[in-house]
Amino acid sequence: MIQEQMPKYYIETWGCQMNEEDSEKLAGMLKNIGYTDTLNREEASIIIFNTCCVRENAELKVFGNLGTLRKLKEKNPDLVIAVCGCMMQQKGMAEDIVRRFPYVDIVFGTHNAYKFPEYLNRVKQENVVVKEIMDKETEIIEGMPIERKSDAKAYVTIMYGCNNFCTYCVVPYVRGRERSRKPEDIENEIIELVNEGYKEITLLGQNVNSYGKGLDPEITFADLLKRIDKIPGLERLRFMTSHPKDLSEDVIKAIKEGTKICEQIHLPVQSGSSRILKIMNRKYTREDYLNLIRKIKKEIPDVAISTDIIVGFPGETEEDFEETLSLVKEVEFDSAYTFIYSRRKYTPADKMEDQIDDSVKHERFNRLIEVINEASAKKNKEYEGKVVEVLVEGESKNDSTRLMGRTRTGKLVNFAGDKESIGSLVNVKITKAQSFSLNGEEIK
Ligand code: 5AD
Ligand code: SF4
Repeated sequence: MIQEQMPKYYIETWGCQMNEEDSEKLAGMLKNIGYTDTLNREEASIIIFNTCCVRENAELKVFGNLGTLRKLKEKNPDLVIAVCGCMMQQKGMAEDIVRRFPYVDIVFGTHNAYKFPEYLNRVKQENVVVKEIMDKETEIIEGMPIERKSDAKAYVTIMYGCNNFCTYCVVPYVRGRERSRKPEDIENEIIELVNEGYKEITLLGQNVNSYGKGLDPEITFADLLKRIDKIPGLERLRFMTSHPKDLSEDVIKAIKEGTKICEQIHLPVQSGSSRILKIMNRKYTREDYLNLIRKIKKEIPDVAISTDIIVGFPGETEEDFEETLSLVKEVEFDSAYTFIYSRRKYTPADKMEDQIDDSVKHERFNRLIEVINEASAKKNKEYEGKVVEVLVEGESKNDSTRLMGRTRTGKLVNFAGDKESIGSLVNVKITKAQSFSLNGEEIK
C-alpha cells in the first residue's frame, strides 16, 4: 500500500555499461529520498534521460524521445524532466536542449551526477530550470547509493575517463582523463555486494588495463584482479573493456591462474588494416593484434573473445575492408559489435576529407555481419553435448517456463530447469546451439 503512494521515477539509459551504472546511481539517490521506480513514463513524477553520444544514432533517439515528452508535461505540469550523460558534455548541447525543449527542467553532465538531488530540490523550491555542466572531471565520489537492476550480477566501475584519443571517438572529450578508484574502495564494494548475495561482478572502465596509473602506491590491473579473485563467496569476475595495446601478459596469466576470473575477453580491434589502425591512433598493428590473440588462445584454451569493429572509417578502401574480413575469419570471434562509422564533432576523424559514402558503408557492414555470424554460429556449435556451468539470471525472455543464464564465457543459455535455482550456479547440458544462444537442460 505504502508503495502505491510513493512518487515514481522513470530512467531511460542509452549507451554503454558505464552509463547503465550511472543510472543505477541516480536510481539509488532517488530511492534514498523516497521515490520508487516505474517502467511507465505516464505514471512517473520524474523522468530522466541518461544520454550517449558515441554515435549520431544515439543522439537522434534522445531528440526523438524528448519531443514525445511535451504532451506528458502538458498533462502533468508538475512532472520533472531531467537530461544528463555524455551528450550533455558536448559544447553547446545543454543550451541547445534547453532551447529546443523548454519543458526540460534539469540538465547536467557526467561529472556532476552526484549533485542530482540538489538540482531536484532547486527545481521544486524555486521553479527554475537548472543547467549545470562541469568541464573538468571532479574527484571520484565514493559511497554513493546505488539501486542495481540485477540480483545475481553487478557492475563495478574501477576507473573513469580515457586518455587514448582514438581519432573517431568522443569519449575522452565527454568523460575526461583517466582516473582510478582506490583498490580498497573497489574491494570493499565487492565484499559488500557478495554479502548481499551477488555471485558475479564485472569491473568496468573504458580501458581497464591502464587501471592504477597515478595511484599511490601504484598498482597494476593484474594485481587488482588477483586481489579480487581472493574474495570469499565471489563466484565469477569479468572485466571490460581491454585495449589491445595495454593487455599485459600478467593479465593473461591472472585469468589463467585465477579461479573466479572468467575465460572471456572483450578486445576491440576496430579494423583489420594496419594502415587504418594507424590513422585511428590505435597504436597497434594487425600483426600485433593477431599475435596477442594467439597468445591468449594458447594460454587460455577455452577463452571466448569478443570485439568491436568500425566499418567505413574515413579513407577505408575495399582492400582495407577485406583485411578486416580476413582478420575476423582468422580470429573467429565468439561475438562482435559492429558499428558504421559515425562522424563526431570535435574529433580528428570528422575533419578527414575522404569520408566514405553511406551506401558503401552499409554494403560493407552487411558483408561483415555475415562473416561474423558464421564464426559465432561455429563457436556456439562447439558447445553442443558439453556440460557447462551457468549462473541463472531468471526466466527466459520468450518462454517463462524455461530459465536463462550465462556460461563463464558469457554465452546466453536457455534451458529447462528448476525456478529455485535462479540466482545460483547450476550445471547445464547443451543440447542445441542457436546462432546467438545455446539451448540445454539442467543436470542435477
Ligand atoms: N563511429 C562508430 N563507432 C564508434 N565507436 C566509437 N566511436 C565511434 C564512431 N564515431 C565504437 C567503437 C567502440 C565502441 C564502444 O563504439 O567500436 O569500441
Ligand atoms: Fe574511445 Fe579509444 Fe578511449 Fe575506447 S580507447 S573510449 S575507442 S578513445
